[in-house]
Amino acid sequence: MNQTSKSANLPVAVRVETGKTYMWCACGKSQQQPWCDGSHAGTGVTPLPFTATESKTVHFCGCKKTGHAPICDGTHQLINGGGRDEYFQKGQSD
Ligand code: FES
Repeated sequence: MNQTSKSANLPVAVRVETGKTYMWCACGKSQQQPWCDGSHAGTGVTPLPFTATESKTVHFCGCKKTGHAPICDGTHQLINGGGRDEYFQKGQSD
């Protein structure tokens, strides 16, 4: 996946609602991060659906490098020069 200027190297915290399906931008080009706005057209990348099983705040991946898409797994810390573990030690997981 290519990183673009529209996504950030930080997770995006969003309150989701039980049973609702959200389309996570996987290409990084959307102007409506973390959601798909159709900007992926022609990239060969498609959005990833996420259906909330409960109403809660979810930290969606902003760097588009997570190994647990669409959820942040701390990989952005590696990009930002830190370690993945320190992200979760701060209680930032979903
Ligand atoms: S705009 Fe990025 S996947 Fe649709």
